[in-house]
Amino acid sequence: MAARLSPSRREHVVSQPHLRTVVVLAAGEGKRMKSALPKVLHPLLGRTLLGHVLTAATPLDADRTVVVVGHGAEQVRTHLAEVAPTANPVLQAEQLGTGHAVRIALDAVPDGAGTVVVINGDVPLLRAETVAALVDAHEGAGAAATVLAAEVPDPTGLGRIVRDAAGRLEQIVEERDATPAQRALREINAGIYAFDAARLRASLGKLSADNDQGEEYLTDVFGLLVSAGEPVAVHVAADHAETLGCNDRVELATLRRLLRDRVNERWMRTGVSILDPATTWIDVTVAVDRDAVIDQNTQLRGGTVVGAAAVVGPDVTLIDTVVGPGATVLRSHAIEAEIGPGASVGPYAYLRPAAKLAEKAKVGTFVEVKNSEIGAGAKVPHLSYVGDATIGAKANIGAATIFVNYDGVNKHRTTIGEAAFIGCDTNLIAPVEVGPGAYVAAGSAITQDVPPGALGVTRAPQRSIEGWVARRRAGTASAAAAERAVRAAAEAAEDASDNRRAASEGEAIHRGAEAVRPPAGGGDTATE
Ligand code: UD1
Ligand code: MG
Repeated sequence: MAARLSPSRREHVVSQPHLRTVVVLAAGEGKRMKSALPKVLHPLLGRTLLGHVLTAATPLDADRTVVVVGHGAEQVRTHLAEVAPTANPVLQAEQLGTGHAVRIALDAVPDGAGTVVVINGDVPLLRAETVAALVDAHEGAGAAATVLAAEVPDPTGLGRIVRDAAGRLEQIVEERDATPAQRALREINAGIYAFDAARLRASLGKLSADNDQGEEYLTDVFGLLVSAGEPVAVHVAADHAETLGCNDRVELATLRRLLRDRVNERWMRTGVSILDPATTWIDVTVAVDRDAVIDQNTQLRGGTVVGAAAVVGPDVTLIDTVVGPGATVLRSHAIEAEIGPGASVGPYAYLRPAAKLAEKAKVGTFVEVKNSEIGAGAKVPHLSYVGDATIGAKANIGAATIFVNYDGVNKHRTTIGEAAFIGCDTNLIAPVEVGPGAYVAAGSAITQDVPPGALGVTRAPQRSIEGWVARRRAGTASAAAAERAVRAAAEAAEDASDNRRAASEGEAIHRGAEAVRPPAGGGDTATE
């Protein structure tokens, strides 16, 4: 029965939601990445650094999201158009500091009340729950500004949270501007904040660039607010790993390992077996159903979906691939493929875009499939290329069959009917059709349709030219082997004729004996 809302709950539902603006800072170059790619576009298990940050902010349901772009602005804009089309990119042509960046962001949005959430673009492990908790704490306390902080084992390079004797925030100081005593502090600024919009705007106008880097620091807003007697707060993250930034590729690799463990743990807790979590890399965008088994050295990427009780791995990479329930995929690579329920792939198969295996179909060893449907229970077990084909249910494609789909200009399709049988080492030269229940003889090159139930065969009759090796390859190991074989055969023939002679002599003697003996009672005496 649907519970009726209590009056207070009703009040909560109808109360004005806070106007929220999210500002993501993504204009920096990330010099230490030493990359042509802007730092925030580096990928990390299924999303860019920027994509992870935007995802963490999504549940805030902000009225607007502003992304400050600068270095590689065009690349970042293009990426945003794909992953967050409603976000508003704002250009910071010169990177004059995080305070300057937020000022430019707010210049681009209409004056308004509410909460401004600022997130550095390079903190990809940040969870949505943590951002939400920061914003709740900030709005609940009616603070002018709240900073997300964390106690970290190694605070090197980060801004420190400086508190007074009573534990209240006094200021945030950058390491390069800090005193030795401040540097000893291990409570750091994570680069994630909630601000009251009006008081943030007022403070941004007062920032100076009087510091070691000559930049306008967003963090100085806290000191300014404290001096003005405004309430500021510190929200401490439960897990400091969430606040880790990314400044170089070594840190990126560390973040990737941490995220891998987080993702793997999540799937194991929902009933997925991951046999070797250290070598299993699952993008955050992947879905895996219960009782699936992911064996070692396996990467599941993009929009990949693995069905219940499927077995994937070891040594498998699946990109944007759907694996049906109970299917198995072993030592194979697939991209944009569909593997039906109970189907079997590999070892050593390569499924390319639009390879579609129906229920219980099999694609075996050293088989490549592209843009083809393989019917229910159909088999392509060994050494084949299947391109632009439709293969009917229960058809059997023999080893070394090539679907010859490309004439150098155009691609053509091949259709194989239900329960057709293609002999080994066949070329099916498209466009061509083999009817239901038809057979194709091994070693054929099929250029014309084979009617249902017919046998298609294009083999040339065989010739064996006797003695060719002895004449044309004299002195080789082959010639010697052939000579031995010929000699052995001749000797065997001679022995056989001796035996025949002996046997016929023996038979004559036997018959002679029989002639003088009375007939035996019904027994067969000829094969003694
Ligand atoms: C910043 C904080 C520091 C904090 C750390 C957490 C300041 C002054 N310091 O330092 O207290 O501990 O983050 O990781 O804010 N950016 C712009 N425009 C600019 C400058 C930076 O968009 O003009 C962006 C960068 O792309 C980056 C973010 O802001 O995404 C932070 O900049 P970064 O240079 O990495 O600041 P940190 O020195 O790490
Ligand atoms: Mg940084």
